[in-house]
Amino acid sequence: MKIDVVLGLQWGDEGKGKIVDVLAGRYPAVARFQGGPNAGHSLHFDGKSFVVRSIPSGIFREGSENIVGNGVVLDPVTFREECENIIKTTGIDPKQKLVVSKKAHLILPTHRLLDAAQEAAAGKGKIGSTLKGIGPTYTDKVGRHGLRVGDVLTADFADRFARLKARHAKEIANLGYECDINAGEQEWMDAIEYLKQFRLVDCEYFVNKWLDEKPMLAEGAQGSLLDVDYGSYPFVTSSSTTVGGVCTGLGVAPSRVGHVFGIFKAYCTRVGSGPFPTELFDETGEKIRQIGHEFGAVTGRPRRCGWLDLVALKYVVMIDGVTDLIMMKSDCLDDFDTIKVCTSYKVNGVETDQVPFDISAEIEPVYTEFKGWKQDLSGIRQEKDLPKAFTDYVKFMEDYIGVPVKIISLGPDREATIER
Ligand code: IMO
Ligand code: MG
Repeated sequence: MKIDVVLGLQWGDEGKGKIVDVLAGRYPAVARFQGGPNAGHSLHFDGKSFVVRSIPSGIFREGSENIVGNGVVLDPVTFREECENIIKTTGIDPKQKLVVSKKAHLILPTHRLLDAAQEAAAGKGKIGSTLKGIGPTYTDKVGRHGLRVGDVLTADFADRFARLKARHAKEIANLGYECDINAGEQEWMDAIEYLKQFRLVDCEYFVNKWLDEKPMLAEGAQGSLLDVDYGSYPFVTSSSTTVGGVCTGLGVAPSRVGHVFGIFKAYCTRVGSGPFPTELFDETGEKIRQIGHEFGAVTGRPRRCGWLDLVALKYVVMIDGVTDLIMMKSDCLDDFDTIKVCTSYKVNGVETDQVPFDISAEIEPVYTEFKGWKQDLSGIRQEKDLPKAFTDYVKFMEDYIGVPVKIISLGPDREATIER
């Protein structure tokens, strides 16, 4: 059986939680393969809202199995908070339906402090990190001195924790950052005991045995434009958010991968720093922000907003091998006279349809304009009821990118979804 994949195709916050929730009903298992609590996936059903950060969005579906893969970085404290919140609000006990890879790396309290210290030291060049300790934890993983979930079961865990903490203390002091190096440690140790109650597994065996019999859905976090290799480096996250991350983050071969669902919003948003060619600084940007409620689910920061960038979208569709496009939040553009999409860039005055290497290059977006449909789409549930101005706009995108738009989402609720 195949592992199908859901990926965000922009800078995160495309609406992955909603789509995984809609699709999760069709898959008996959902896995996270990268990222950590920097993610905030919002789900809305039965009149309630939920935000998950490290736990797969499949957790709310009856009978589902959920996997936190080895490519994830896990903060036991936020993990525990999330679990306890799910128990409180839904009665679902994640212990019954969630396994955690022994090879996933642990976010220590000092990784968070180090994240803050590095951002403070970077001044104007800061990444705009979510300050969840993501970058420092992946740095330790690649630097070969990280702590993994499976280590919590070993006799010398406390010593290894102390060694890594001491290393971090030195780095933080070198950066001249003042803080309480012991902050949050007791709570973290308690959360480790909580984590030990879960099924800690060899995820690669678990996933491959599962796929011998049943399908699975992989849930991406962040977005392809934040990928550590293909995003606007260094203004990226520290994991592989593109399709290759599924293979390394779960231990599956590329031949196991089936559909790649690529999610994008009908406009663009970005939190944190870094290039954003179609960013709007005027009232149109503000209008998108208000209508789309574009404020961070994790940090509450107002998101930067702009028109849809098809040059960037086509680039990541190529890297991810997207088979099915999923368009979110089209209803947020109901009230615009003119809708723009960027179809090429002028880089230092020269027109191109490629994303440039140099992130300091002056990029001027070249737009194709569409007449707005000026109609409330949010109540529409059937494709035949969509206005022609809207379907023309979708057709244009499909032709430009060369991949069909299979799902159109017209609101946050599970039900506000049209499949084509
Ligand atoms: P979901 O899964 C949007 C951004 C941060 C920052 C950069 C690096 O909800 O779509 P990090 O904390 O990862 O070191 O920050 O990446 N970022 C996200 N932006 N949605 C996310 O996740 C993000 N996760 C990280 O704002 O610019
Ligand atoms: Mg988010």
